[in-house]
Amino acid sequence: MAEAKRFYVTTPIYYVNDSPHIGHAYTTLACDVLARFKRLDGFDVMFLTGTDEHGQKVEKSAAAAGVAPQDFTNKVSQNFRDLADFMGFSHDDFIRTTEERHKKACQDIWKRLLERDEIYLGSYAGWYAVRDEAYYAESELTKNADGAFVAPSGAEVEWVEEPSYFFRLSNWGDRLLAWYDENPDCVMPKSRMNEVKSFIKGGLDDLSVSRTSFKWGIPVPGDDDHIMYVWMDALTNYITATGYPDLESDKFKAFWPANLHMVGKDILRFHAIYWPAFLMAAELAPPQRIYAHGWWTNEGEKISKSLGNVIDPIDLVNRYGLDQVRYFLLREVPFGNDGDFSHRAMIGRANSELANDLGNLAQRVLSMIAKNCDGRVPAMDEAAFTADDQKLLGSAHDLLEQVRAHMDAQAFHEALETVWLVIRAANAYVDHQAPWKLRKEDPVRMEQVLYTLAEVIRHVALILQPYMPESCGRMLDQLSIAPEHRSFEASGPAQALKSGTELPKPEGVFPRLVEDAENNEDNG
Ligand code: MSP
Repeated sequence: MAEAKRFYVTTPIYYVNDSPHIGHAYTTLACDVLARFKRLDGFDVMFLTGTDEHGQKVEKSAAAAGVAPQDFTNKVSQNFRDLADFMGFSHDDFIRTTEERHKKACQDIWKRLLERDEIYLGSYAGWYAVRDEAYYAESELTKNADGAFVAPSGAEVEWVEEPSYFFRLSNWGDRLLAWYDENPDCVMPKSRMNEVKSFIKGGLDDLSVSRTSFKWGIPVPGDDDHIMYVWMDALTNYITATGYPDLESDKFKAFWPANLHMVGKDILRFHAIYWPAFLMAAELAPPQRIYAHGWWTNEGEKISKSLGNVIDPIDLVNRYGLDQVRYFLLREVPFGNDGDFSHRAMIGRANSELANDLGNLAQRVLSMIAKNCDGRVPAMDEAAFTADDQKLLGSAHDLLEQVRAHMDAQAFHEALETVWLVIRAANAYVDHQAPWKLRKEDPVRMEQVLYTLAEVIRHVALILQPYMPESCGRMLDQLSIAPEHRSFEASGPAQALKSGTELPKPEGVFPRLVEDAENNEDNG
């Protein structure tokens, strides 16, 4: 039997005490594009996002706001749902770690670990950074301007001593290294895999996995003085959503192990070391891949609340358009690398690549068809395609296979570059074939040329749907493509445009953006 086409992709669950910003939108956008791509490619997809609501930081923020932590998280978690809706994200589930299903999953994985002697009670003394929810070794610390010890992230640390349960992480180094060797693509990009391996080769200590110094968390089963370490709690969300602890549930059987955990580079260690170790120790399958993407800076500067340069994705979308922002974020920076956001680059790409390359191609071709072909898909004769026509059509037919390979490697920018090669070739073809001249000289040939172009536009719009759902939908509307013919099954000649099909009146899809000096001053 053919392997079931299933795809489970997750975003990190976001800390609720922060307002949603471009970093959050970016991680989820990448997952959204993959989820949409896989759905169009015939996969049964599960796409999960949500919020990480426990921990000392949240407890402190709630106290500062004078409300109970649950009321606080109810309120702020909604900001992340609102962002997801606003950005048009197509997640199938939104998990909150304060939900009952999640508490049950966390307590169950704890019991599995305890039963297998992977957890023991000890006591902990060390430097803890509340902001990072992480302990640091003394050797990792430096002093800040006020003379306080700080972690490499810049977060202040405090000395903490408490009884604690430990996970026997020190036993897992060799097995993790063997797992990476057997699954060379399980941590990507490659440079991140190297980082993870060298961290492990430096030696792993047992990991403190419970706290007694605050209350806002999931109680350790059988020992109410302790709550579970927030990262153990948070990571477990990925299996909670599949129906765990019910190992027989259809969802768990279908979707675990996840195909991909998408994360930022700052949280790689938790996902690529702790999480697979917890799972293997609990005799559950580790995820198939963890991909760590880079970080955005704003006009060359690190993004931070204190610098006041946080980029609000809602502002961006209101200014430049949703699909323009979706395109830009995945095109501007090779996925995996750090990148810089600038208004100039945003406008530059929206104008040169969307308005000019793609928008003009569609607009030029569709208005020539409207004017000269009676608003119907032009006539075409299979036998009359020239070598140039065939070359261009062939490159459109080949797109799916090439783009699929890039998507499977999370190379979003390369997938787009591949599509743009075809768009540019189509523009060169228009100039070279000059259908406006053919109108008088050889109207039959003109129709053949316009048909070829319309068919190329159909392919481009089909394959770009995951990136720019709304705009591509409008392009496909203008080609009279029925909703049921918009999956990738329709790519290639099988469902080619039918000559004579009536087309609606063409309309521009990508407006030109105007540089706004004030915006640049605000943000530059
Ligand atoms: N709650 C944890 C994740 C638990 S997953 C089991 C967490 N949350 S977070 O809200 O702080 O961060 C979520 C994501 O946003 C991370 O993937 C992080 O890399 C990403 N980003 C935060 N700032 C960013 C940029 N400036 N640029 C790109 N992504 C950034 O960590």
